[in-house]
Amino acid sequence: MKANDKSSGQTEIIKKRYNRTSAFFDAMTYVGSNDTHRRAFSLVSGNILEVGVGTGANFPYYPAGSTVTGIDFSPGMLARARKKVSMSPVPVTLLEMDAEHMDFPDGTFDSVIATCVFCSVPNPVAGLREIGRVCKPEGKIVLVEHMRSANPLVGWLMDRLNTVSLHLVGANINRRTMENITAAGLHIESVENLFFDILKLIVARP
Ligand SMILES: C[S@@+](CC[C@H](N)C(=O)[O-])C[C@H]1O[C@@H](n2cnc3c(N)ncnc32)[C@H](O)[C@@H]1O
Repeated sequence: MKANDKSSGQTEIIKKRYNRTSAFFDAMTYVGSNDTHRRAFSLVSGNILEVGVGTGANFPYYPAGSTVTGIDFSPGMLARARKKVSMSPVPVTLLEMDAEHMDFPDGTFDSVIATCVFCSVPNPVAGLREIGRVCKPEGKIVLVEHMRSANPLVGWLMDRLNTVSLHLVGANINRRTMENITAAGLHIESVENLFFDILKLIVARP
């Protein structure tokens, strides 16, 4: 474990869970075409970073004229993504990298996007802060994330069920992602509820 890195232990655990999950991830998330993700990708352009690219489910939505770098810390998920790069209409570079410690210089990307990733990143505030760092100051950050409901009963239930989801898949269902985005110093521009207050489309700036 690196000094000053409290999430390193968790990182190995969650990475292993996603290596395991990669075997059934596509079957588990198959719901035909994903209009929400398609719409999120219509909001980004230029030199794009997709954080937590997973098995490459978003490849078909990459916008024409862009170039995309996809990162993920799970070799298992990336191995499946590599088999699907031909589904992308634009050039894609896939890299094994931890979102909490990215190798890119400050202000590298015009847009940074992540779909259903910050439920899993062991230290989400550190990952969101990195997104802000690698995005150009005038760039755009687009997130599709599920999070803990503000409804007391639903939130309570999500807290109770979180252990199951975390152990089975590697994802938390009770993250307070809006608070995490603010804590990371990102500036929220718009928020749209897609499924009650649990799934949101968020546009932010560094
Ligand atoms: C629920 S999957 C979503 C995959 C993809 N974005 C999608 O919508 O199908 C979450 C992904 O985030 C990745 N991930 C979680 N924490 C990460 C981190 N710290 N750095 C890089 N990738 C991470 C996992 O390995 C996994 O592939």
